[in-house]
Amino acid sequence: MTSPVLATDSPTKKPKMGSLFGDLFKSLAISGLLIFLFYIILFDNTTDNSLIQKWPIPITNSTNLISSTPDPNNPMIKTNLSHLVFSIVGSMNTWKNKRHYSEAWWRPNVTRGYLFLDKPPKNEFLPWPSSAPPFRVNEKVKAIYERASNPSQVRIVRTILEMVREGDENVRWYVMTDDDTVLALDNLVEVLSKYDHTKYHYIGTSSECIRSNYDFSFEMAFGGAGYALSYPLASLVASKLDGCLNRYPTLRVSDFMLYSCLADLGVALTHNNGFHQIDLHGDISGLLSAHPQTPFLSLHHIDTVDPIFPNKTRLDSIKHLMKAVKVDPSRVLQQTICHHRPTNWSISISWGYSTNIYEATLPRSFLRRPLETFRPWRGQRSSRSPFYMFNTRWPTNNPCETPHVFFFHSTQESNDRIMNTYVRASSPGLAPCGNHSANHIQRIRVFSPAKLPLESNGRDCCDVVYGDGENTTEVRYRACTKEDVTA
Ligand SMILES: *[C@@H]1O[C@H](CO)[C@@H](O)[C@H](O)[C@H]1NC(C)=O
Ligand SMILES: *[C@@H]1O[C@H](CO)[C@@H](O)[C@H](O)[C@H]1NC(C)=O
Ligand SMILES: *[C@@H]1O[C@H](CO)[C@@H](O)[C@H](O)[C@H]1NC(C)=O
Ligand SMILES: *[C@@H]1O[C@H](CO)[C@@H](O)[C@H](O)[C@H]1NC(C)=O
Ligand SMILES: *[C@@H]1O[C@H](CO)[C@@H](O)[C@H](O)[C@H]1NC(C)=O
Ligand SMILES: *[C@@H]1O[C@H](CO)[C@@H](O)[C@H](O)[C@H]1NC(C)=O
Ligand SMILES: *[C@@H]1O[C@H](CO)[C@@H](O)[C@H](O)[C@H]1NC(C)=O
Repeated sequence: MTSPVLATDSPTKKPKMGSLFGDLFKSLAISGLLIFLFYIILFDNTTDNSLIQKWPIPITNSTNLISSTPDPNNPMIKTNLSHLVFSIVGSMNTWKNKRHYSEAWWRPNVTRGYLFLDKPPKNEFLPWPSSAPPFRVNEKVKAIYERASNPSQVRIVRTILEMVREGDENVRWYVMTDDDTVLALDNLVEVLSKYDHTKYHYIGTSSECIRSNYDFSFEMAFGGAGYALSYPLASLVASKLDGCLNRYPTLRVSDFMLYSCLADLGVALTHNNGFHQIDLHGDISGLLSAHPQTPFLSLHHIDTVDPIFPNKTRLDSIKHLMKAVKVDPSRVLQQTICHHRPTNWSISISWGYSTNIYEATLPRSFLRRPLETFRPWRGQRSSRSPFYMFNTRWPTNNPCETPHVFFFHSTQESNDRIMNTYVRASSPGLAPCGNHSANHIQRIRVFSPAKLPLESNGRDCCDVVYGDGENTTEVRYRACTKEDVTA
């Protein structure tokens, strides 16, 4: 899981030092280390053409293919949800609270996979509901590896082996995740369908905190954020895992165990942004309001950050975000920026999450930097900045750089468009920046096309419709043109 906190349930307990990796585990001990990554890849200068070449969308008549090709593993058949098997690593002691997070994304009788528990479910959870992922109980590690220095982490990495042993058919990808993570399934399917599942693939991403990556590896996938192993790779790992774990009895963290075993097999990580480890604390709205242009795949550490929407519990916040995920997964958290010349306002939208109005014309390069509303993982705060794998902006008292913040409130779908309404959460409480205060704006309505998903790594442009004195602003999404000046 990558959440040693979860694994040990004792984030502050200090493991014994003195291993080869003493330094590494020192910070683990102090912090109970956790993790996520957020590469900000700028696709500026990438023309639409080159994107199309990079991500060709196969034009197939699936009716034809299915009827004429009996082999369901035929790579010509586009990967769909039925080709994925999920493994959620959980723990009986915490399942009561965490199960709601799995239920927020799990589709009963549709998604395939298992919840792996450290102990059999207590009576209060029986009979096991069909709305939850079916459970399995991990094998006892102590009986298998006497020398393992951290059995709870060995249990987690061995979940891969036990998952493969279940022998599910027509699997293209095994996806590992934690019980305090939510996934955006349709985006995950879309992203994985771009990779060749018949090859060895280890797809995931690192933490957003430099220190977390430094302590392990910048080339390691963090399991809380989730990662995918292609079927052939998972099968290979399953056959080699016990040998590998015996070679490295002193490793203490499951993700690093897997990373080490894969390295020995000659397999490197394919970084795919959009998995979010969230090794952060506090208010992550600054980060979620400036998500990089890449499909949103996962959100981890829901319990260690503030609720992502104001005035909502953690669970209600997640359910609220999932409403937007359901309506248009391709656009969720994708940042779109437009400028309104008559007022000099810049509006930044994080679809289905938030909108920000700035009372000045600010360049996109600036607005794409997350406002640093959050803090590094505890235990990492004493280390020196830079903390993060991406650039940030500090909140200031400059009225021109301080946003009016609105959060996603409701969504309405008609034939050809989706209308999301965002309501004000805060006012900067500062003098206006120019001659056009936005203080009286209470709501923002954002219109985007229905049934026209945003292409992977694509972008939308928008226009602002606003009449002086109105308390509502409208934003209309449209395709970008060559005339769109980006500042
Ligand atoms: C796909 O193939 C089926 C059967 O050959 C045909 O009836 C259908 O019109 C085709 N659809 C498209 C979009 O070409
Ligand atoms: C997914 O692909 C399989 C072929 O492997 C096909 O039988 C199935 O109908 C597809 N499912 C969906 C929901 O498209
Ligand atoms: C799942 O399928 C089983 C068997 O068909 C059915 O009894 C159960 O109600 C279904 N569960 C849900 C949550 O749809
Ligand atoms: C917009 O900002 C520019 C530069 O600060 C200023 O010259 C211009 O008058 C402003 N326009 C409006 C409509 O406020
Ligand atoms: C949150 O609740 C407070 C007090 O009930 C209210 O004043 C505020 O407007 C609410 N904020 C949002 C964003 O709903
Ligand atoms: C505000 O309006 C005044 C008068 O219309 C104008 O002279 C001034 O340049 C404006 N200031 C800004 C920052 O736009
Ligand atoms: C916004 O203005 C409309 C009409 O102009 C009014 O009915 C509505 O109550 C106002 N809303 C708020 C939140 O002030």
